[in-house]
Amino acid sequence: MMRPVKVSGLGTFVPPRTLTNEQLEQMVETSSDWIMQRTGIRERHIADKGVATSDIAYPAALAAIAEAGITPAHLGFIVVGTTTPDTIFPSTACVLQARLGAANAWGFDLGAACSGFLYSLSTAYTMVATGACDHALAVGADVMSSIIDYTDRTTCILFGDGAGAVVLSAAGPAEPGIIDFWNEIDGTGGPSLCMPAGGSRMPASHETVDKRLHFVKQDGTAVFKFAVRKTEEISRRLLERNGLTSRDLDLFVSHQANRRIIEAATERLELEPSRVIINLERFGNTTAGTIPLALNDARAEGRLKKGNLVLLTSVGAGFTVGSVLLRWGC
Ligand code: UT7
Repeated sequence: MMRPVKVSGLGTFVPPRTLTNEQLEQMVETSSDWIMQRTGIRERHIADKGVATSDIAYPAALAAIAEAGITPAHLGFIVVGTTTPDTIFPSTACVLQARLGAANAWGFDLGAACSGFLYSLSTAYTMVATGACDHALAVGADVMSSIIDYTDRTTCILFGDGAGAVVLSAAGPAEPGIIDFWNEIDGTGGPSLCMPAGGSRMPASHETVDKRLHFVKQDGTAVFKFAVRKTEEISRRLLERNGLTSRDLDLFVSHQANRRIIEAATERLELEPSRVIINLERFGNTTAGTIPLALNDARAEGRLKKGNLVLLTSVGAGFTVGSVLLRWGC
């Protein structure tokens, strides 16, 4: 028997230092106009050397916990969606748990690239809905600058660093909360977006470093086409399963990778710009961080209020596809 679950707190954090398009013009053969026209990105936030994913996840988690009106000891579960964990092991969830002093939580990292936040949200929702715990922390955080090749103009212009976290709590039957989720993977898309070395297939060696294999490699066009098609498809499916259409939505928040992907998908879904949040201009693609950062901006602009019907979607490396339908709770 599943019980109702609400979002009771949201927190985000980005490192203070920015990397602008003009600065990138000095680093690779590109132009600020090209980046703006092709992606919609103007600047990204970049962590200083030595700053790891748990360092940016921590302030985001603290803010979410404070808003939920609980203490870290109330958390029963912590899941960190990330592609850039502090270390392969121990998990970033363990590092965060210790730093928060969340003495009663267990948890783990979740690898779903740009779908990391939505997969974490789905997992944390299930933990609370089944009664495994009363409060769970779902984090999406990445220090993408640690795996980006700043000599590769096709990828270095896209990514930034950022973190977001939500607390999910058991709710009363009348409270606005999570309605449904639908996630998919399509592993045939693996080679289109990957980091070739550093895992068991190709452990780190002088050769892998010399060949720059510890950086993100991407077939941008393949990812672009898949993202537009799947964002529309998964949105329609999840809405339909719940007897809804895009007309019913108050806000649509997708993963923020490229303005043109979001515009193409939302046009197909007949969602006008007033019901779509696009904030990648200031952050770039922060991988697992984008959706909480977008929710935070939507709320600050007064475009996201308690009770609003919201659809969250993502497409990422794997390929991974995620969607969560909810009534906003805080
Ligand atoms: O979260 C999931 C992760 N990623 C994504 O969702 C990204 C999906 N893909 C994209 O966003 C786009 O494919 C990109 C922004 C990466 C590229 O945009 P595009 O419109 O697909 O451009 P393109 O790859 O077709 O490249 C067009 C031209 C090429 O030159 P030629 O072959 O036409 O002479 C590129 O070499 O633009 C060139 N180019 C650049 N020029 C200036 C590629 N990168 C740059 C650059 N500055 N940074």
